[in-house]
Parts: sequence; structure tokens; C-alpha cells
Amino acid sequence: MARISQESIELIRNTADIVDVVSDYVQLQPSGKNFKGLCPFHSEKTPSFFVDKERGFFHCFGCGEKGNAISFVQKYKNTTFVEALKELADRYHIPLETDGEESYEDHFKRSYEINETANSFYQISLTNLEKGKKALEYIKGRGLDIHTIQYFEIGYAPDEFKGLFTQLKDNYEPVELIELGLLKKNEKDYHDLFRNRLMFPIRNEFGKTVGFSGRIIVDNPNEPKYVNSPQTKIFTKGKVLYNLDKALPFINREKRVVLFEGFLDVISAFNAGIKEGVCSMGTALTPDQANLLKKHTDHAVLCYDGDSAGFEATSKAIPILEEAGLRVSVVLLPDKLDPDEFVKKNSRAAFVNWINTKSLDPFEFEYNYLKASFDLTKPSQVEELKLRIFNYLLKSDSQMLLEIYVKKLSEDLKISYETIQSDLHHFQLTKAIKTSQNKRKEKIINVAIQNRAVVAERRILCYFIKAKEYREIINNLIGGMFTKDKDNLEILINAEDFIKSKVTENLKEKVINSFVESKRPSVSKRLNDENEPYSIEDLLQLIMTYKIHEVELEIAEINEQLAKLGEFAKREDTTPLVNKKVELNKKIREIRKDTPWKKTKS
Ligand code: CTP
Ligand code: MN
Repeated sequence: MARISQESIELIRNTADIVDVVSDYVQLQPSGKNFKGLCPFHSEKTPSFFVDKERGFFHCFGCGEKGNAISFVQKYKNTTFVEALKELADRYHIPLETDGEESYEDHFKRSYEINETANSFYQISLTNLEKGKKALEYIKGRGLDIHTIQYFEIGYAPDEFKGLFTQLKDNYEPVELIELGLLKKNEKDYHDLFRNRLMFPIRNEFGKTVGFSGRIIVDNPNEPKYVNSPQTKIFTKGKVLYNLDKALPFINREKRVVLFEGFLDVISAFNAGIKEGVCSMGTALTPDQANLLKKHTDHAVLCYDGDSAGFEATSKAIPILEEAGLRVSVVLLPDKLDPDEFVKKNSRAAFVNWINTKSLDPFEFEYNYLKASFDLTKPSQVEELKLRIFNYLLKSDSQMLLEIYVKKLSEDLKISYETIQSDLHHFQLTKAIKTSQNKRKEKIINVAIQNRAVVAERRILCYFIKAKEYREIINNLIGGMFTKDKDNLEILINAEDFIKSKVTENLKEKVINSFVESKRPSVSKRLNDENEPYSIEDLLQLIMTYKIHEVELEIAEINEQLAKLGEFAKREDTTPLVNKKVELNKKIREIRKDTPWKKTKS
């Protein structure tokens, strides 16, 4: 299908009733001219989510989300613009006209087709051609029979510069192959990206081949063991999970997914009878991948390699999976084995049995993992371990869990139960005091930010009502719907009604009078500007304050996240936040420096 025409988009935009659409997902109640309800985009107890039926937009004063019916569907369903359009078109029986240009779907379809063709070429090269013999021997040597090879569609990229290119060049343009990461251009010539490698096709959850990973067949420390497709328009490493498509029916049946580190772990486990296995590709598990799993199951079993890298990766994956709402179990393999090696060393049955009977809950895992990472002959390390474990334990609010682990800790550290208990008590107290101090400090800062912003917003509103010249500046620099305060928004909306109908004489009085009698005094107070001068320069300063405030809010949010992570946060968790903060502070400096308010001053 071709691209959806602008006319259709307009038609959908004009037909879709925002209140009608939002009401499907949010309980709305009338509030003056508008409707309000609990915001679906952040959690709240009192409604700050407003829907303006007439103008067709929503705005949350809590989290700042705003938009029209199309973007509401897009955000709520976490889908694409095109999908949202389709849904609304269906709902309002609007035929989707297309304007003949190629659509995203078409574009992707061709990419999948190219990857599928490449996939067949690789498979034939492995199983049917002489040049694949060595690779076939290698993979058979790893214990895979021909059925398994075919089931996982494993292939071989021949040791040739133009093996794949020659096969595809009659039907596809080089640029298309380059875009998919199958081909590279070197000075003047093209060559295949994957050469002399065993090929694992990576499919998305719908079974479309989106990329490849190629393994060397003769281990060589100077070459990367695996090479993955680069990021392309259909492949982002952190958003897919290997084998998820084929694992889905088994995930449903077993009501769990098992996460491994490597392709051959997934495959060996499959042969052993654990068919609900997936893996990420050489990168740490991402929140996107966790959310993808949560769509299909509530329970994730982590079965990473039994070495220290595997433990570390497990420790990192647990909170990511939990954050996505999954229950997590951890299976540790003995003797530094990975699943593939475990199966070979023991047996398939032993592996299945190990997975099904040896799982730990995340607390047990974390406790043992922490314990093993400290030298308990040193008092300072014992102390550190104790604090780390306290910190971890306090994340749960189960009293029972606390008691069990205080007991365990007392046994493991050979310190009396009472002493540990009292240390824990002390730790809890100090932590609570610190948190409340931090909160108070933050509150004071936030109130200051808030005050400046409230003043600026109110004054900008006065300017907006004052004259067309000011309105144009405001519209250009911060857009028409600049108010974050909901009373100010109502004033703004009423003002816009008059402006739209071109009756702007004595606008301030008109706006005040458009409110019900009881509200007029407060509106008039807000718009009171008797002792305030009007000048473009002053307005630009206000807009600058307003813009800076928007960034300050983002910084305040990051501060909150940092506070949540706490003092024992891992550096890799805090670094991105701190970097973001640095960036935002830079942005504030830029706003001060750059911008029209400076120019007019000179
Ligand atoms: N990986 C990768 N790139 C590398 C190394 C590893 O993408 N250079 C990914 C692969 O998905 C691999 C997984 O990380 O399957 C685990 O890596 P590792 O434990 O080193 O490999 P194994 O799974 O043991 O690989 P094999 O069994 O093929 O030796
Ligand atoms: Mn491994």
C-alpha cells in the first residue's frame, strides 16, 4: 500500500472526536468547557489530564503530555503514526486514500524480501554446496544435526568477496543491500559484509528476518567471534531477541521465557527440550527487550553463563526485567559452564532438570552474588557487604524477607542476630533521615523555580492579551499553547476564541467577562497589569525565563531519579543521568546566550 494521503490525514484529524477517542481509555468528567480525568501517561490520584473537545486536543498538567486524537492513540498504544491513523480510519469509517508514493510498509516489505533471499542463499551455501563443507562440519561438530540446522535456518556466508552480491545484484540495487548491512562499498568496489562465517538469521517477533549474526568457523583471537548486522531501518540490536518468534508458542505453553547469553545456548537448550529460550545479541538486556517479553509472559528465567561475566550480566538484567513487570527467577550453572557446555558435559535431561529445579529468586541470587564479591576475612569488607545487603533488602517491604536475611547474614558473618538487627535499624533510620533531608532541599529549590515560572507565565499571558504584535512574538518563540497552569490555560483559550473571531478590541475586559461572575475577580487579578510596563525587551526576557524553566523542570526530574537510585547506585546507572544533566545545564547557558532577547538589547 502506498503512503496515506495528506487529505486522508486531514479528514481523520477533523473527524476524530478527541473526547470520544480518549473516553475509550480514560474515564472523563466534564469540567467547565473541558473534560478531565486521570492521566494515562503518568500515575496520579487527582485528575490533571484535560481534554478540550472543541479544539481537539488533550493536555496533562501533571506530566506535560499533550496532543490531538491521533497522537493520543499513538502514545497510548505505543504504536506508529500510520497505525494510529489506521485505527481511527477504521473507527470512523474513513477510507484511507493513498497518494501513490511508496509507504513504510512497502519499504519494509522489500527489505524483508531481500533478507529472506540472502537467508536462502546462506542456507543453500551451508547445506548444499561444496564450499560450505567446512562450516557444515564445524556446526555438526558442535552437536547440531541437519534438522536443527534447518529449523534455525543456519547458513554459511562463503569465503568470497561477492558471493551474496552476485546472487542479488540482478534484482536489487547495491544501495539497498548497503542499507541492510549486507554489502559494503570499498573505494570503488562492492564486497559482502559477511564472509566465511556461519550465519544466524535474526528474526523479529513476527518472524521477519531483520538482520544476521555471523560466527567465525575457526576460532581466532584476532577476529571478532560474532559479527552482527549494523543498525538498519529494520534492525536495532537492543530491540529484538533471537528466536523469540519460534519460542512464542512454547513461551505460552510453559508460561515463562528462558533467557540465555548466546545463540548456541538457545539452540542447545532447544535440543534438550527447553524450547522457550531466547537471547540478546552480545549486548546487555535492554528495557525494550524486557518490555517485548512482558507482552507475552509474566515470568522470565535468567540462565546466563556460570562465570563472573554471566553473574554480573544477571545482576544487571534482574532490575530491568522487574521494571518491565516480570517475575524473575535465576538459574546458575556450575563450574563456569555456559548452557551449551553444560548440556554436553552432563546430559540433556540433566540440563532440563537443572533449569526446572535449581532456580533462585532474585534476592537469593543477589545475596549470594554480593557475598561472593567481598573478602570476608577483612572487617571493612564485611561492613561494606552488610551495608550493600541492607540497601538491597530495603527495596522490598516484606518483613519476612528482612528477617530471613538478617538471620542468614548473622550466620554467614558469624555476628549475633541482635547486633545485625540493631545495625539494620540504625541503617534504616539514617537512610530515612537522609531521604527526608534531600527531599526538603529539593522542595525548596523546586518552589523557587516554580515561583519564577508562575510569574513569567502570568506576565506572558498579559502580553498575549495586550497586542497582536506581542502575540506574534509569543507564537513564534514558544507556541500558542504555552500555559502550564490550568487557570491560565482557560484564560488563554477564551482569549483565543475572541482572537479567532477577530474581535480583539478591549480584549482583556472581554476575556474577563467571558467567565462566570464568580470567577471574574480572580481572572481580573491574574490579568492585572496596572503597574507593569510593556516592552518587547521585557517580553523577551520573560520568554527566556519561561524557556529556562522548561529545562529546569527536566533537571528537577533527573534529580529525582538520581535520588531514587540512592547512594549505592552503580556508576553506569547514574552516569547517563549525570551526563543528561550536564547537557541540560549547557542548554540553559545556550538559551541565555543565543536567542533574540540578546539581539534586541544591543
Ligand atoms: N556475541 C557477539 N559478538 C561477539 C561475541 C559474542 O555478538 N564478538 C554475542 C553472541 O550472541 C554470542 C553471545 O554474545 O552468542 C555470547 O557470547 P560468548 O559467550 O562469547 O559466546 P558463546 O555463546 O559461548 O559462543 P559460541 O558458543 O559460539 O562459542
Ligand atoms: Mn558462552
